[in-house]
Amino acid sequence: MSAVSPKREASEPADNQRPTKVAKPLDGAQSAGAPAAAYIRTKLPGFAPRLAIILGSGMGGVADAIEDKTEFPYSELPGFPVSTVQGHAGTFVCGTLEGVQVACLKGRVHLYEGTDPQLIRAPIYTFKELGCEIMFSTSAVGSLREDVGPGELFLLKDHINLQARNPLIGPNDPIGPRFPSLLNAYDPALRALIQAKAAENEINITEGVYLACLGPSFETPAEIKAFKILGADCVGMSVVPEVIVARHCDLRVATVSIVVNLAAGLTNEHITHDETLHFSGLAAGKVTQLVKSFIAANGEW
Ligand code: HPA
Repeated sequence: MSAVSPKREASEPADNQRPTKVAKPLDGAQSAGAPAAAYIRTKLPGFAPRLAIILGSGMGGVADAIEDKTEFPYSELPGFPVSTVQGHAGTFVCGTLEGVQVACLKGRVHLYEGTDPQLIRAPIYTFKELGCEIMFSTSAVGSLREDVGPGELFLLKDHINLQARNPLIGPNDPIGPRFPSLLNAYDPALRALIQAKAAENEINITEGVYLACLGPSFETPAEIKAFKILGADCVGMSVVPEVIVARHCDLRVATVSIVVNLAAGLTNEHITHDETLHFSGLAAGKVTQLVKSFIAANGEW
């Protein structure tokens, strides 16, 4: 005998027709990015960035290209987490690049530092609160593809989150919906534009899927073999939490990753963080060029 379902009142919608429950913001509740944005506005009245940039390990040099800079140490900004990793300076840079106002995280925090995932939210929501439309993030990765070696670039087209963490766990920030979609998280139109700009500048770039691990240990060769089967092209310990938060507040996302090593087991070499800093430093020039020509094409965003 089949189970009898509880009777539904005629006026009650079926479960699959109920609207998604969104955690209601308290009256007057503000986004976790509002305090830092308000602070920055008091220091820089009229600052209205269109683009947000996140610089990964060893890529602080990209920030050198920003003109008319004002830098805020993360410790000065309400709600911001503070990075402890070598090569991650930890300042929020405001300025102009190719004539467009930009806001930039120079140095990021990683979950392997023991950071509460919720703390990833404030810097990204600050971008949104300041008026940014796009978040261009960069990172260092290990490549699962021998044809895309150290010094080469990946343009991310999707991700696999194996960090077993999500920065949106906990009360929903009023800036976005309780259950955001991650379909086309890496904006297809922006990817096409970056591909075009890379070609113009004779920079090789390969679209790939990023797999996020928690770290801080690198992977085992067996894990890398498994990740290949899952469909990953590159592996790293960052990017994903920020992209989730960015999509939550409807920032369009583009991510370029520098290959700093072949993933574990693809060679017999041990992977080191010094290698990361070396290759990201070498490729940072290409990334700067790409970011600049992307910004110069802002009419096409
Ligand atoms: N694995 C994880 N994260 C990384 C790697 C890697 O091989 N290289 C740079 N970041």
